[in-house]
Amino acid sequence: MPAVISARGLVKRYGDFTAVDGIDFDIEQGESFGFLGPNGAGKSTTMRMISAVSTRTDGTLDVLGLDTNDHGPEIRAQLGVVPQADTLDTELRARDNLVVYGRYFGLPRAVVQQRADELLAFAQLEEKAKARVDDLSGGMKRRLTIARGLMNEPRILLLDEPTTGLDPQARHILWDRLFRLKERGTTLVLTTHFMDEAEQLCDRLVVVDHGRIVAEGSPASLIREHSSREVLEVRFGSSRNAEAAAAMQGIGDRLEVLPDRILVYAHDGDAALQAIHAKDLKPITSLVRRSSLEDVFLRLTGRTLIE
Ligand SMILES: Nc1ncnc2c1ncn2[C@@H]1O[C@H](COP(=O)(O)OP(=O)(O)OP(=O)(O)O)[C@@H](O)[C@H]1O
Ligand SMILES: [Mg+2]
Repeated sequence: MPAVISARGLVKRYGDFTAVDGIDFDIEQGESFGFLGPNGAGKSTTMRMISAVSTRTDGTLDVLGLDTNDHGPEIRAQLGVVPQADTLDTELRARDNLVVYGRYFGLPRAVVQQRADELLAFAQLEEKAKARVDDLSGGMKRRLTIARGLMNEPRILLLDEPTTGLDPQARHILWDRLFRLKERGTTLVLTTHFMDEAEQLCDRLVVVDHGRIVAEGSPASLIREHSSREVLEVRFGSSRNAEAAAAMQGIGDRLEVLPDRILVYAHDGDAALQAIHAKDLKPITSLVRRSSLEDVFLRLTGRTLIE
């Protein structure tokens, strides 16, 4: 599969500050690719360079075989973009946002009208066609922005934090719509700082931190490579945490001592809990769970994703 987006040594500096610090990635056609990282990691900066609205400082970046610095208009015509902050026109009704955006691409009026109706249906917003943008919920605005991004029938849809700020139900509706796009063969490129979103949506992702890629792979392979099968979380109360952690040395493969709890990385979490009980340590609460991308991030950076 040829890469539809390809970066080598990609750098973005703002004055003395380096926001993106020499990253390499290849995104294949039809795949769902994610940038997972905390606030300030350089995710939006990277997305703006891919969408050819911000120039790079160094390195190479090709989208659909074209250099983003030289071919902005051609690239933008073939991309759908969902920016981190909604940029809907609040002067216009929901459907008119789609129509005006479609006209901007020079599409004939009849085509634009038909597509607007199809995409309102796809975004489950038919009943809101005539609603004012300000009267839509956060999830509806996000879905309308996605519908707008699809007006030019893009081969690649870029989504910067598609579900930040949404409640769980609104997130699930949105994930479902994105799954459908993926099934139709649209290449999805998304950023997120939610590990569950990355696990749900991404075939492959890069973990980014301070403008650098610290790991790359499928969610399952990243977890296999950088974490244990299970994690036991135990709480002893803040005053006993350090002392308990000292007594727990040797249990499981690795311990991670957080301010409010201790994470025990182990193949068998229940066996680790038994080992703790055998030492007569009595946690206030205990929980065994599967390893997640959050654990991968903690392992690689020593920090949690959402601080
Ligand atoms: N126009 C700009 N001028 C100066 N610094 C900038 C500019 N845009 C971004 N930065 C800095 O670059 C770094 C990366 O910002 P960016 O928005 O790419 O992060 P992000 O990973 O998208 O974070 P978030 O999860 O908060 O959206 C930050 O430290 C930010 O302050
Ligand atoms: Mg951002």
